[in-house]
Amino acid sequence: MANDNKLQDIIAHCKEYGFVFQSSEIYDGLQAVYDYGQNGAELKKNIKDYWWYSMTRLHDNIVGIDAAIFMHPTTWKASGHVDNFNDPMIDNKDSKKRYRVDHLIEAHADTLDEAEKKALIDKMEQLLGADDFAGLKTLIEELGIKCGVSGTANWTDIRQFNLMFGTQMGSVAGDADVVYLRPETAQGIFVNFLNVQKTGRMKIPFGIAQIGKAFRNEIVARGFIFRMREFEQMEMQYFIKPGTQMEWYEFWKETRMKWHKTLGIPQEQYNFHDHVKLAHYADAACDIEYNFPDWGFKEVEGVHSRTDFDLSRHQEFSKKKLTYFDTEENKHYVPYVIETSIGLDRTVMMVLSEAYTEEDLSTEDKKDSRVVMKFASHLAPIKLAVFPLTKKDGLPEVAQQLMDECRPHFKCFYEQKDAIGKRYRRQDAIGTPFCVTIDHQTLEDKTVTIRHRDSMEQERIPMDKVKELVLEKIRQF
Ligand code: GAP
Repeated sequence: MANDNKLQDIIAHCKEYGFVFQSSEIYDGLQAVYDYGQNGAELKKNIKDYWWYSMTRLHDNIVGIDAAIFMHPTTWKASGHVDNFNDPMIDNKDSKKRYRVDHLIEAHADTLDEAEKKALIDKMEQLLGADDFAGLKTLIEELGIKCGVSGTANWTDIRQFNLMFGTQMGSVAGDADVVYLRPETAQGIFVNFLNVQKTGRMKIPFGIAQIGKAFRNEIVARGFIFRMREFEQMEMQYFIKPGTQMEWYEFWKETRMKWHKTLGIPQEQYNFHDHVKLAHYADAACDIEYNFPDWGFKEVEGVHSRTDFDLSRHQEFSKKKLTYFDTEENKHYVPYVIETSIGLDRTVMMVLSEAYTEEDLSTEDKKDSRVVMKFASHLAPIKLAVFPLTKKDGLPEVAQQLMDECRPHFKCFYEQKDAIGKRYRRQDAIGTPFCVTIDHQTLEDKTVTIRHRDSMEQERIPMDKVKELVLEKIRQF
């Protein structure tokens, strides 16, 4: 079945089947903030755990930490976020009201028809992407956009707007008390570099991994869970000897791409996008991009060679030594860093996009179709659904025995309502890889029917083999 608007269908499916909801929906939502429902939360946790184990269990020299969201305000001076983490804004000279440039243009776009709206939004995003502030101001003037308060088009030049959310710590308000909600988790790793190195007696090369929330007051906040104002990152900083960065950069590029393929997504759906224009602290950087429906290739993860920039800046601002003594070289140095930084929510969106499949199951006699989420089994929110064929004759009791046996090992779901076909479809829609039906034959010979989600094939197996079969199929490593 051709589908020209697949992303919209995926978003609708996510809501209908308890994956993702708009935050505070009953109050009309909060832009670019989302909540995960019962199935989305399981899926997200499975991805998170899989990344965590891939980093910390499969690499003896990588350990995980969990740093606070709030950090000393000087952290963000040192990292460069206070001065450089900006987006454009504009003031009306008459009302003194300040607007985010994208909000102003978007509000105008909402008054246009769909085609004009799209053309304008595309143009705005192109100018924003090129940091073309003069072009954006000309656009605002050409469109005749006026301030909602003064009613005039008397605009200042466009200036930068910092993307960090600030808040107050302690009881007295004032500049000195401003703390930021972290815009990346990485700085929690950098400031703890020596704590971990010393207490863990870590030897270079070694890595520190972390998963946690990050916050950005995003200027272009569209695209479902692709670009959010509150999101989660899974980051790993790999500390290395200066001069070895290119070899480790290549190693992590390759290692991360291999990981991506184990999500059940084929190679052709991924791209490396090498950065041509490098950030001032980087000497190499690339994105791992996924081919999203309707959008094409977009960044999911970044691999960055960050030199010794962050540790050196923290050393400078904190006036504390952040060097490592290399016993083989017999010298102190500030280590270089390779960073792998992946957005958890973006990964969820990638996995949802890849899994979403519409299938036409029509036969000559009957029209039929299904939506099936073809998740890799180890990521699926629910692994096994157990259905007694009927509510009587002792079948529910036997089904509950199977639930009791499997429940401690993986997420199971029990249902006895409706025809079996309907129950299968509901599990297809949330991506459950295995459904087991307990019928009258089970009472006689202790066998059950197991149905495989993708092929819809069914086979009869002994009930006491179900747990092992599912465990074998959902093994991560
Ligand atoms: N420490 C490096 C860093 O934060 P980044 O490219 O700004 O680098 C890394 O972010 C990853 O975090 C991105 O590849 C993306 O997956 C995710 N990410 C960034 N901003 C996001 C947002 N507003 N919403 C969702 N995910 C985001």
